[in-house]
Amino acid sequence: MLQQTKDNVQLFKNVYTDFVDLSSAANTIKNYTSNATSYDTMVTELGYEAPRDVAFLTFELSKGKPVEILDVACGTGLVAERLQTLGFIGEIDGLDASSGMLKEAKAKTLYRNLIEQTVEPEVNLPFGDKLYDIITCCGGLSQSHMSPDTLDVLLKNLKADGFLIFTVKNNKANAQYLLELDKKLSSLETLGKFKLERFVETQYLEVDYGEGTDEFGNVPKMMAKMYCYKKC
Ligand SMILES: C[S@@+](CC[C@H](N)C(=O)[O-])C[C@H]1O[C@@H](n2cnc3c(N)ncnc32)[C@H](O)[C@@H]1O
Repeated sequence: MLQQTKDNVQLFKNVYTDFVDLSSAANTIKNYTSNATSYDTMVTELGYEAPRDVAFLTFELSKGKPVEILDVACGTGLVAERLQTLGFIGEIDGLDASSGMLKEAKAKTLYRNLIEQTVEPEVNLPFGDKLYDIITCCGGLSQSHMSPDTLDVLLKNLKADGFLIFTVKNNKANAQYLLELDKKLSSLETLGKFKLERFVETQYLEVDYGEGTDEFGNVPKMMAKMYCYKKC
């Protein structure tokens, strides 16, 4: 566990205040663009491991085949970087609302195509009837980011039997969002749109300074839920 130092408390606050505006999704996207060049350094400092976990599962499910992946809310490309490290041989298209984050991703030359689009409920992605084998969304489903209703939009471009893999922060601050997400997931399962294939609790960040301390005075880790659904 990271020691609580003035520096990492400040860094944690910066990640949230520099990037996320809880009252405005549009401002949040602008913030990602303004601070895109610092994103990788900041989240790495704070032990951001979700892209690694998403990449591991994606790689496992791709079974060594040259599958096509759509990485939604791809940001600077951390999921693609991890996939490359694992020896992934397929193609990855990335989509994100922030031009600045996409510029960072482009510089890594890991994506076949990078598309700038805000994912919103009932607005189709710009892929027509193209279907992907796997859709990933690491850190995109959150307050002031993509609402739970955007899952319908993602499913339209996923093959039958394809996998939708995503993370969501699991802490008190995200409680309301988690409730809405649970409702959406249950409704999609009931409608027979997809089935839960895998679920794990994983580390999101090494520290969660918004949640107080445990009985020993340690700052808890920020946890995430990672879901993998198979489209019916
Ligand atoms: C926490 S970052 C995650 C980036 C990357 N997947 C990663 O794990 O490092 C969230 C990303 O979601 C993007 N984003 C936020 N709202 C979005 C929306 N409605 N549609 C598309 N991208 C969005 C932001 O621009 C940002 O790049």
